[in-house]
Amino acid sequence: MTTQKVDHDHEVDSRLIQNENKYYAKASRINYYDLVIESAHNSTLVDADGNEYIDLLASASAINVGHTNEKVVKAIQEQAEKLIHYTPAYFHHRPGQELAERLAKLVPGSEKQVVFSNSGSEANDAIIKFARGYTGRQYIVSFMDSYHGSTYGSMTLSGVSLNMTRKMGPMLPGVVHVPYPDLYRRYQGETEHDVAVRYFEEFKRPFESFLPADEVACVLIEPIQGDGGIRKAPEEYMQLVYKFCHDNGILFAVDEINQGMGRTGQMWSYQQFENIELDLMSVGKSLASGMPLSATIGKKEIMESLDSPAHTFTTAGNPICCAASLATLDVLEEEDLLEKSATDGIYAEQRFLEMQKQFPEIGDVRMYGLDGGIELVKDQKTKEPNPDFANKVIYYAFQHGVVMITLKGNILRFQPPLVITHDELEKALDVLEDAFAAAENDQVVIPSNEKIGW
Ligand SMILES: Cc1ncc(COP(=O)(O)O)c(C=O)c1O
Repeated sequence: MTTQKVDHDHEVDSRLIQNENKYYAKASRINYYDLVIESAHNSTLVDADGNEYIDLLASASAINVGHTNEKVVKAIQEQAEKLIHYTPAYFHHRPGQELAERLAKLVPGSEKQVVFSNSGSEANDAIIKFARGYTGRQYIVSFMDSYHGSTYGSMTLSGVSLNMTRKMGPMLPGVVHVPYPDLYRRYQGETEHDVAVRYFEEFKRPFESFLPADEVACVLIEPIQGDGGIRKAPEEYMQLVYKFCHDNGILFAVDEINQGMGRTGQMWSYQQFENIELDLMSVGKSLASGMPLSATIGKKEIMESLDSPAHTFTTAGNPICCAASLATLDVLEEEDLLEKSATDGIYAEQRFLEMQKQFPEIGDVRMYGLDGGIELVKDQKTKEPNPDFANKVIYYAFQHGVVMITLKGNILRFQPPLVITHDELEKALDVLEDAFAAAENDQVVIPSNEKIGW
């Protein structure tokens, strides 16, 4: 099916951005294309030139219940009229109390407690603090290709971009990275079991050569890597790592900032795996529909290991953000968005698999609910990444009213708001299908001054 060419004019967008570039430091933004978002509702964005787009990014998975969701907006407005802020470091407010209880109960297993922060990055810093505090051990193990944030703690945990550490070292001491399993680029003839075992051997290598297990506080993992390309660890690998932690008194912590809050069709992405009871978890992004709020949730005894004021921020747990979060959780439940994510994800996966038959550049389709990574390659056999092709696809999509970005340069990031309608989903997928054809036929011209992606 061919979609209509939407003649998007970006004059105002471009002018505003040119001016902004004089004042806004480039370290804070990854450039894709000129888009100034003026307003948004559900899955639709409107730019400064009045163009409309279907959003396949959901503000980096921060808007799972849709832009300006009526219930969330109402909760924000009502709370803003009552109390904008009072620091939780000293006194109490009801939205914070209610949210802490609700989140603690939303994570299955033994009793949990919660601390609030302003960003996902800080929630991961809290994981380091509580893991060290509880165990009295200093080392943390995290994964290559992970992204955990931009504070010194969380950027040390990350391993996805050189520019995130370049010129800023030294990083936090005591963090060791191990490779994250890659099922797509497996060796010839390897089964999923072989991959799980091979990567578990890699996981254990530091423990056999320089990292005493009894000095490791925690392993922090994204059950599905987000910025690493929407990649899910094999079930067997996860179980091996989980058991290793258990056997060695190492806490098992998961980062649900990108993948949690219903994104994958489960409330938390670690629930895609069997019988895991985690020790610590970080949540952010969609937690308060993009309002600055994050939480670290952990077993009560772990959270009780640090004394006041080990983790306080003046603006964390802001009552408006907490009210937005309570409304967001209501919407997820009331509108059955977990179920919807799972069902729509199957539909989108089928469409991408159909496209894969037509376009040899589509190397791998990974879809877990409305959470997809479509990996584009130069050759199906060598699996060499094809960022030029990916850039053409997303640029064409942008020109035709669909907002999408890439991961690692060559992987299409498919994370629409979970409220996206079937018509919008279909339309966006039609545009992408045309985008593949246009990119293959060399019909997409990206302005030469644009550097796209990370
Ligand atoms: C998995 C994951 N963890 C942590 C973060 C950092 O969150 P924030 O940008 O709110 O600090 C992100 C952000 O992209 C993320 O995807």
